[in-house]
Amino acid sequence: MARQDHPSPLSPARRAFREAPSLPRTAGPARGGKKKPVLRGLGHGRRNRGFMPDEPAQGSWNLDPAALPQDGFTVQVAPRGFLTPLLEELGDRTITVMGRLVLTRGQEKAHWAQNVWLAPRWIPVTSIRDAARKLRDIQRNWRTHSHDQDGCNRRMALIGEELPHVSCRPLTFGDPAPTAPLGAFTLWTKDLLLASPVTTSPFPDGEVPFVEDKVGPPGRAYLKLWESFTILGQKPRPGDLCLDLGAAPGSWSWVLGGMGCRVFSIDKAPLANTVAGMPTVNHCLGSGFGLDPSVAGSVDWLFSDMICYPSRLLTLVRQWIDKKAMTHALCTLKFQAETDHETARSFAAIPGSWLGHLSCNKHELTWFWTAPEK
Ligand SMILES: C[S@@+](CC[C@H](N)C(=O)[O-])C[C@H]1O[C@@H](n2cnc3c(N)ncnc32)[C@H](O)[C@@H]1O
Repeated sequence: MARQDHPSPLSPARRAFREAPSLPRTAGPARGGKKKPVLRGLGHGRRNRGFMPDEPAQGSWNLDPAALPQDGFTVQVAPRGFLTPLLEELGDRTITVMGRLVLTRGQEKAHWAQNVWLAPRWIPVTSIRDAARKLRDIQRNWRTHSHDQDGCNRRMALIGEELPHVSCRPLTFGDPAPTAPLGAFTLWTKDLLLASPVTTSPFPDGEVPFVEDKVGPPGRAYLKLWESFTILGQKPRPGDLCLDLGAAPGSWSWVLGGMGCRVFSIDKAPLANTVAGMPTVNHCLGSGFGLDPSVAGSVDWLFSDMICYPSRLLTLVRQWIDKKAMTHALCTLKFQAETDHETARSFAAIPGSWLGHLSCNKHELTWFWTAPEK
């Protein structure tokens, strides 16, 4: 990939910088005008502190295996606490829902799915040993998916114990994602497995565990970059010029600065002192929407974790793309009470895009973009 030159690393950017009006932190589409909007969901993978089950979305679906298709479907796994946006995205592709598993018509992965079982099949079983044998006959690596159906979880755990061990130790940042295929299964009823040897994620339920750093970064947002770089297999190189919009308190700048990138960060708030003092980090107080890409000079990576309407972020990234002012972009689309699926689709439609839900995303999607090869 051709790298862009940036002879004047953002000193013109500083000059070009101007404050622009932006969304107040808690503002949202005011329904009825007065209610204070709340960012929905507190999910954070298995590390959740405030996981809210998506019970209303689970509703009463027909789980009778006799009524369900034998093939031509996939199983899309909803992030914890975010079944609703997945079901909204899938629309009439949804066949039925059990817990976080959504049986879906067609192969296409939903952006809100954290993992997709691509080749699911029904396997009748007569005992725990019979289930384990049938799974082992298909392949070595399996992980269970637990749910709340009566009595199934204990039985599933026992089946898991009969299967070869699959390591799920937390990664240290920099470790590559596993390459071995990982199958997933659940007990639909006590004598019927739903199992898929092929899934889209090498991590169980798409949840990426890390050995966390509770000392260095000033917040937990650094996990978004760790997870993105790990699952995408791409990350900035030392010396790359990175623009970090909505950077405070500074976990992303801490990650990027620590990787030897030259970081130019912007936020209305200051960075934590530990990050502001990093020799590779240069912070500017102001709005990320005030930087004009035509005068700022090009960057290797544009990052945004700004709290703003996704539609406004879309306008911003289109400007940077149109000006050929960045080589890569990694942005969080943060949704208010409603999920703006239309804007999400517009992001996904930009050639060179990846859009998905990280296990450390809340009511957010992560958009990654790479410029086409010149
Ligand atoms: C979720 S925090 C970002 C966390 C950050 N990525 C980190 O790693 O610490 C969102 C940030 O967006 C900032 N923000 C909101 N609107 C902004 C704007 N228009 N320009 C710049 N920053 C903005 C807020 O001040 C807040 O610090």
